Amino acid sequence: MNDLSVANTTIQKAFDVEAIRRDFPILSQQVNGKPLVYLDNGASAQKPLAVLDAMDRYYREMHSNVHRGAHTLGDRATTAFEGARETVRSFLNAGSTQEVIWTKGTTEAINLVANGLAPKLKAGDEILVSHMEHHANIVPWQMIAERTGAKVVPIQVTPAGELDQDSFNSLLNDRTRVLAVAHVSNVLGTINPVAEMIAQAKARGVITLLDGAQAVPHFQPDVQALDCDFYVFSSHKLFGPTGIGVLYGKAALLEEMPPYQGGGEMIERVSFERTTWNVLPYKFEAGTPAIAEAVGLAAAIDYLSSLDRAAMEAAENALLERANQLVETVPGMSVIGTAKQKVPVMSFKIDGLHPSDIGTLLDQQGIAIRTGHHCAMPLMDFYGVPGTARASFAFYNTLDEVEQLFTALQKVQRLFA
Ligand SMILES: Cc1ncc(COP(=O)(O)O)c(C=O)c1O
Repeated sequence: MNDLSVANTTIQKAFDVEAIRRDFPILSQQVNGKPLVYLDNGASAQKPLAVLDAMDRYYREMHSNVHRGAHTLGDRATTAFEGARETVRSFLNAGSTQEVIWTKGTTEAINLVANGLAPKLKAGDEILVSHMEHHANIVPWQMIAERTGAKVVPIQVTPAGELDQDSFNSLLNDRTRVLAVAHVSNVLGTINPVAEMIAQAKARGVITLLDGAQAVPHFQPDVQALDCDFYVFSSHKLFGPTGIGVLYGKAALLEEMPPYQGGGEMIERVSFERTTWNVLPYKFEAGTPAIAEAVGLAAAIDYLSSLDRAAMEAAENALLERANQLVETVPGMSVIGTAKQKVPVMSFKIDGLHPSDIGTLLDQQGIAIRTGHHCAMPLMDFYGVPGTARASFAFYNTLDEVEQLFTALQKVQRLFA
């Protein structure tokens, strides 16, 4: 063992990853006759018992519809639901719960913002995104551009997988109305220098949105410090349930935006002559919300808050460092995305092997990774690949699992050599 491995093993012990793994029942199973090694956390993360228990308890003890005020169960459900909103507010350090809107996930949150900003856009306006965006942060803007005559303009990416700041500086101009970029890239793991970019955009009065889907599982953002206008994420990548996500938006902008969907909850008064909208955040929450899911997401955030976040980040970095060290043990393997600032995500290719073959053969050994275009086709085009294989780590992964991944990759490579 070299010095780095010794240091990394020490970090993992300090973090007590084995104790943490016991909180995630799904991890202790066999898949294809082998102990499961789950390295597809970027696609969706696993859920701790705290989340399962909170949702179970909600359904056993307090389920009813919310905001009706007619009976005790309704009050309990409403208290749990609005309490969850406060947990999210605190997690993001938003100024008010009015600024925390429940959505189905990141995708719906971006669609909501794009639609809400449409009245502010006209022909010739520019929406700056980047070449490394997930389709969820490209397509909604293209649809709005089509409707308004605005144009979607991509910021270039460097070969290492960083946002090209020269490209950003040259593209930010008087026609720019919106800057919508990933806080962290789902393919490359790059942590983008979003605070600096937002400051530059703000100086020109540009509205800013951060796609935090891949950031929140690894670190806690502070929306007031970032000063972004919108921040979006999905619960299921943050160790919470599927079916719910969050849109943070500055109240002043949300007030100006029209509702996204119509129906119950989002109105103040309805008549055939004139219908008026509810106050924030309800104006954007038409219909019965995902109540148990909100409770589950809050439980996930509380669970994360109970961990030593600094130790967790150190443990995650140790996983990535070990993986980086082992790349040279697999002939023909190369990493796509070598930015200086990264979360523990490793996209890679192996000469002569199709990513989907790598995925299938790893699965036979109990190892789950993601392969394909990762909903980032423009980025695949930039790197000239049809897809990549991607191992995305979470704080419950171990150094031993990293070793197992590479042992399995060596096997796969030998098989095809
Ligand atoms: C960076 C990024 N943005 C958006 C999304 C879409 O998230 P969801 O499918 O939960 O709406 C993902 C999902 O992989 C993502 O990684």
